[in-house]
Amino acid sequence: MIKNNMKKTDKIILAIETSCDDTCCAIVKNGKEVLSSIIASQIDLHKQFGGVVPEEASRMHIEKLSLVIDKALEESKVNLNDIDAIGVTYAPGLVGALLVGVNEAKAIAYALGKPLVGTHHIKSHIFANFIENDIDFPFIALVASGGHTHLFKVEDYDKITLMGRTLDDAIGEAYDKVARALGLGYPGGPIIDKMAKLGNPNKIDFPKSWLSKDSYDFSFSGIKSAVLNYLNKMKMKGEEIVVEDVCASFQSAVIEVLVVKSVRLAKAENIKSIVIGGGVSANSYLREMMTTYCEKEDLNFYYPSISYCTDNAAMVGVTAYYELLSGNISGLDLNAVASLQLE
Ligand code: KG4
Ligand code: ZN
Repeated sequence: MIKNNMKKTDKIILAIETSCDDTCCAIVKNGKEVLSSIIASQIDLHKQFGGVVPEEASRMHIEKLSLVIDKALEESKVNLNDIDAIGVTYAPGLVGALLVGVNEAKAIAYALGKPLVGTHHIKSHIFANFIENDIDFPFIALVASGGHTHLFKVEDYDKITLMGRTLDDAIGEAYDKVARALGLGYPGGPIIDKMAKLGNPNKIDFPKSWLSKDSYDFSFSGIKSAVLNYLNKMKMKGEEIVVEDVCASFQSAVIEVLVVKSVRLAKAENIKSIVIGGGVSANSYLREMMTTYCEKEDLNFYYPSISYCTDNAAMVGVTAYYELLSGNISGLDLNAVASLQLE
C-alpha cells in the first residue's frame, strides 16, 4: 500500500545496527528522512565491568532486538509491507553482536521477499552527516570512535580512500581508559568532555603524537600511558590530583592532533569540506576547535547531531539506501565480519 505522502519511487529502509553495545533499529526514507530511530543502550549492563563484555552484548541484542524493531515500526507508522529493503551492519565490530543483527535482517528480508543490504559501520558513521546536511563531494571525513580513528578522502558514495589511521589505540578507547584510571566510570568520553570544561588544559604537558611530519596516522597509546604514569607519580608523592585538570590537559592534547591533521589533509588535497563522525565526534571541544580552524582556513565543517554520532541505525539506513541505488545487494549467505577495511 502506498501512503498519501509517499511517491512510488520512495525507498523505505528498515535498518539494523548491533555491532557493539547498542541495539538499534531505524526506518529511513530516501536515505535522508528518519521516520524513527530507536536505540536500546547497554551501558548499564557493561558499566559494572568498566567496558563492553562481548558475550553479554550478544545476549542482550538477542533479548532486545525484536522489541526495538517493533518500536521503530510503530513510531514510524510504516507497515512492514511498505519496507523496500533491509539494511544491516555486517562489519566491522564484535562478531557475536554483529551476527544477531545480520541473522534478524536475513530473516526479515527472506520473509518479506525484499533485498538485504549489508553495510559497513565506518561508512555509516561518515554518512550520518547526510541526514541533516546537504554535502558536496569531495570531502575529508574524520571517523573517531571507541574502535576507530580514521581519516578518509571521500570523492563519491563508493569512492572512499583511507589517508590515515591510528597505529594503536582508537581515540575513544584512550578516553575510556583514562576515565577508568581516574575512577570516572564508563563510557569515559562524555564524562571527560564534561570535567574538562572545569579544568586547565595547560596544566599538564601530556605528549602530542604527531608521528612524522607528513603523516596522517595517529597514535594514542603514548598519551594513555603518560596519563597513567602521571597519576601513579602523583599518588606516590602524595600530591593532590586535580581530575578536571587531567581531563582538560589530556583532551586538549588528543583533540589538537585530530583537528590539525584533518585540516592539513584538506589543504593538501585542495578539498573544501570536513565532516566528522563516530562517538568521539560528539565531543564539544572537538566541534569547537574544528569550527575555529575551519573558519580560519575557509573550509566548510559538518557534524551530526549527538544522537547520530554514537552508534545508531539511522546512519545504516542512509548507507543502505546508497548501496541499494548502486545495486550492492547482499545474498542471504551474508556473514558478520569482525574486521574489514573500508576500501
Ligand atoms: O561510535 P561509538 O558509539 O561506538 C563505536 O563504534 O566505537 O563510539 C563510542 C565511543 C566511546 O569510546 C565513548 O567514550 C566515545 O565514543 N564518546 C565520546 C563522547 N561521547 C562518546 N568521546 C569524547 N567525547 C564525547 N562527548
Ligand atoms: Zn560506531
